[in-house]
Amino acid sequence: MENLNKPSLKLARKRSKKTVEIIRYNNDKSIKNLGLGKKYLIQTHGCQANEIDSEILRAMIEEQGYQRTDKVEEASLILINTCAVREGAENKVFGELGRLKSFKKINPDLILVVSGCMSQEETTVERILNKYKHVDIVIGTHNLDKFIYYLDKFMKEKKQIIEVLSEEGKIVENLPHARENRFKAWVNIMYGCDEFCTYCIVPYTRGKERSRGKEYIISEVQELVRKGYQEVTLIGQNVNSYGLDFSDGDYTFPDLLRDLSKLDIPRIRFTTSHPKDFSDELINVISECDNIMPYIHLPVQSGSNKVLNKMNRKYTKEQYLDLVDRIYKKIPEVSITTDIIVGFPTETEEDFEETIDLVRKAKFEGAYTFVYSKRKGTPAALYEETVTKEEAKDRLHRLNKLINEGYLRGNQRFEGKVVQVLVEGYSKTNKNVLSGYTENNKLVNLSIDQKMIGKIVPVKITKAKTWSLDGEYFPG
Ligand code: 5AD
Ligand code: SF4
Repeated sequence: MENLNKPSLKLARKRSKKTVEIIRYNNDKSIKNLGLGKKYLIQTHGCQANEIDSEILRAMIEEQGYQRTDKVEEASLILINTCAVREGAENKVFGELGRLKSFKKINPDLILVVSGCMSQEETTVERILNKYKHVDIVIGTHNLDKFIYYLDKFMKEKKQIIEVLSEEGKIVENLPHARENRFKAWVNIMYGCDEFCTYCIVPYTRGKERSRGKEYIISEVQELVRKGYQEVTLIGQNVNSYGLDFSDGDYTFPDLLRDLSKLDIPRIRFTTSHPKDFSDELINVISECDNIMPYIHLPVQSGSNKVLNKMNRKYTKEQYLDLVDRIYKKIPEVSITTDIIVGFPTETEEDFEETIDLVRKAKFEGAYTFVYSKRKGTPAALYEETVTKEEAKDRLHRLNKLINEGYLRGNQRFEGKVVQVLVEGYSKTNKNVLSGYTENNKLVNLSIDQKMIGKIVPVKITKAKTWSLDGEYFPG
């Protein structure tokens, strides 16, 4: 069947030694005005890699004349950019697809698209082929740049299109971006993941690790500086392995950070860092460069050495705590946050206590915490599930209590201090105040002239709460 390219997680597991080709985005000028007088909507689930993909899709879709809407009933094109990391996120997507079926009855011309990590799974594609026939296009993560081509094809042929590649494609440069934020930008520095943590689907859905050339990253950041951006966050599944796939030379993540820090960008952040290869050189660079922010997201996942080993994390609790110690010594003002999974197969109460102990010792100022979710195709899916749902929920609850104390403690240390805040706009919860983030990535609400939106300003912290700080403009 001509429109059917189905995924295979088994093929996606392969890692070829081939050098990855770099190509320029091919904007096929013969396809134009597909969306004149029409509106579109994109729903984004999951991580920053997906947020960036949605920004790219937005730009491509808007180039076709589509206008953005938040109302499903107005849209002629609805794209759901999905996440496959946990089952809960997947169920939400299927629920949404079910709901959208009725909109297709009202508006038969509505085009419904599924993209992102779920598209890369056989199970999703089979389910769509069998039960969600009203989905018009399924496109994977490796051929996103061809979306307009498939949209045009669908409009002409009106036949369901499934186009998913299991082997990662080339690195596409010069992709357009319709950025969500005017002051903060995400910049991909690499794609894919080669870590193969046993619970994680990402190495299958995003393919092998591929670093972008430094010249492309530097020129993207330079362009953002010209446009007035104040902050960039460098994105990769494990940024510490940036450059390891280059055949020539030894340009590493700390080298990239040093080069970017010389540009006129006030704030540089990065995520995510794997603890196993967070080097002393990286700690030095962060401590030496004023525009690299003192905020590190360092997923630990568990505090039990047995569980860490089963997760294939390649470090021990002791090694993690030693790393955190070295970071605090060199960068005393730093805030460290983490990710933790509870209820991983074989996790006992004692293992969980080890996690609690680690959380206490590591002095985290925040964490994303999850109940383990079995992902078909990953090694852990074959492990016997030994933790009941109730036990896992109870552990999550106990863990979150401790994590929330960390959020509050992290905020309290700024009470009475003057900090730098990048003012982003009106607060999401209170339209009378503005809000922004400190260097340590703490949310601050403050009353200040709206002229300050987009600027980094000194703010005195008057009150610390669990999830945010209150502050006053402090020009003094
Ligand atoms: N179940 C639960 N959490 C997971 N994560 C990744 N895979 C799973 C899974 N199968 C979490 C990890 C990771 C974060 C992005 O999502 O903590 O760091
Ligand atoms: Fe998943 Fe581990 Fe890769 Fe993170 S480092 S994306 S948890 S496999």
